[in-house]
Amino acid sequence: MQQTQTVGGTSHAELDAWVKEVAAHTRPKEVVWIDGSDEEIERINAELVEAGTFTKLAEDTLPNSYHALSDPDDVARVEDRTYICSVEEKDAGHTNNWMDPQEMKDLLWPLYEGSMEGRTMYVIPFVMGHLEAEDPKYGVEITDSAYVVASMRIMARIGAKILAKMEETGAPFVKGLHSVGAPLAEGQQDVPWPCNETKYIVHFPEELAIWSYGSGYGGNALLGKKCYALRIASVMARDEGWMAEHMLILKLTNPEGRTHYIAGAFPSQCGKTNLAMIQATMPGWKAELVGDDISWMRFGPDGRLYAVNPEFGLFGVAPGTGADTNPVAMATIEKGNSIFTNVARTPDGGVWWEGMTEEPPAELIDWHGERWTPDMGKVSSHPNSRFCTPITQCPTIAAEYDEPNGVPISAIMFGGRRKTTVPLVSQSRDWQHGTFVGATLSSETTAAATGAVGVVRRDPMAMLPFIGYNAGDYVDHWLEIGKQADADKLPKIFMVNWFRRDEDGGFLWPGFGENSRVLKWMFERIEGDVEAQESPIGYLPHPEDIDTDGLATSTEDVAAALKFDAEEWRQELPLIKEWFAKFGDDLPSAMEDELATLEERLAGA
Ligand code: GDP
Ligand code: PGA
Ligand code: MN
Ligand code: MN
Repeated sequence: MQQTQTVGGTSHAELDAWVKEVAAHTRPKEVVWIDGSDEEIERINAELVEAGTFTKLAEDTLPNSYHALSDPDDVARVEDRTYICSVEEKDAGHTNNWMDPQEMKDLLWPLYEGSMEGRTMYVIPFVMGHLEAEDPKYGVEITDSAYVVASMRIMARIGAKILAKMEETGAPFVKGLHSVGAPLAEGQQDVPWPCNETKYIVHFPEELAIWSYGSGYGGNALLGKKCYALRIASVMARDEGWMAEHMLILKLTNPEGRTHYIAGAFPSQCGKTNLAMIQATMPGWKAELVGDDISWMRFGPDGRLYAVNPEFGLFGVAPGTGADTNPVAMATIEKGNSIFTNVARTPDGGVWWEGMTEEPPAELIDWHGERWTPDMGKVSSHPNSRFCTPITQCPTIAAEYDEPNGVPISAIMFGGRRKTTVPLVSQSRDWQHGTFVGATLSSETTAAATGAVGVVRRDPMAMLPFIGYNAGDYVDHWLEIGKQADADKLPKIFMVNWFRRDEDGGFLWPGFGENSRVLKWMFERIEGDVEAQESPIGYLPHPEDIDTDGLATSTEDVAAALKFDAEEWRQELPLIKEWFAKFGDDLPSAMEDELATLEERLAGA
């Protein structure tokens, strides 16, 4: 057998053995250990341009930025191809696909045989969260995709510094194996976006291992993000008494200079990144970004829940992002150092997507790589097209972002896309009620995952695709967390809905920056400065307590957005029951109690 050339290496025996085992099986032409240096990424970017995966964008407007178009069948997370292979089937629960770990390996390992032929195998050491954290959470991703290397470099803390600390401490690490599943025969011409029709995104929680095959799309291939920081980490968190959640984290400061940190769980494509980068529309209020997608929370010495953002970059939905809706995101992107995937390109080396500007440019190259003009009546960018940008470039980043032990959370929001039923904002009565609100959260499906769009589904804590274990145990873990702290130290829990519609299908609430008016009400509730009215679904604002100074929306629309409608909620009951029935015996009894309470209160409403 021909000797594989290797650049770099490790003194970490377990890691070394694993990398060698994978290389012997996948047979890459070379193995490259990623050190994270500038020279290294310059070389890799140049190779990606050479391969046609990347197009370099105009240096004067988007410095050090690149454009990529995926295979048209590799544009989103593939939930039906995602597995939790716990040893026991019951530990995967009813929300996950499951297969016996050995059976899955017997199926997958042969797919990896020779799967990296003709390609470079990269080894990326990374840490999720801070290297200086009390208990840094390490990982290593093996991948045959240079696009993944370039993206991981933005999304996580990677490279030689991480590897050195892993070698020094011998701490456990998650083993992530990724292959696009597209070996190259001698002399075979590569395609810009190699991938395989067969896709598997597989987690072995007991072994801290992830095997991803066939896809190059971010959520399937950047293994630090959804696979590790949510699915695997949720299992670690259950075992170690903390929480790994699909939540943004924002810092909110009122005109008097008082501060609260608020976390928010919304399903993919439901507004986390936008809210995390919000600019308050009311004078004197200030919002800053801590995290936009993932929050790891654990109790601090003072008994409060502290959250860190384990990521290092933003992987944001491009369409709908513009100077009007999210000027902070636009300013972040314009600093460059970004990768844009499946958006349209302008003839002068810029990017464009639906919603960036009101008027589209006269001519574009669309996400299929074809000439596009506005009169064609089709979108130029894929609805799940993304920007991938260093978080430190965000002009509103909070300094505490770099705090290894995180920020104390005063409130948690749950939200989703609901055309009807769910009011603009309500507050849960207590932690258990809030857990019920989270466990029954519902939202219309989006383009972030393959499959139908716009279908209402239950999405517990916005974690449906990301809970790495039994969903009943997960809800129980939430209840347990609530028992570990005094009620007054726990975050208050709110439910929001920016997406309620009028009869003509228009949004009742303007959303985006104006959501700060809702944040203000939450802030005042946290501080105990404002009364609320009781309702069967929790506390509702008195309409006059929502600050509408300078808001262009009509009073009727605001009232309709805020409205609690008992009849709509009575129609929700059978859906909640149907959802709970799926848990079988795994549903904590406290959830049955909360459902009974809701039913009773609705009967009297
Ligand atoms: P994430 O995937 O949860 O981070 O969601 P994003 O913040 O990326 O937003 C997803 C989509 O929802 C984008 O097209 C946004 O423009 C849109 N969006 C975000 N916030 C709002 C809002 O408050 N109102 C409305 N109508 N749309 C929003
Ligand atoms: P999102 O993250 O929540 O920002 O959409 C990506 C995803 O969930 O696929
Ligand atoms: Mn997400
Ligand atoms: Mn996002």
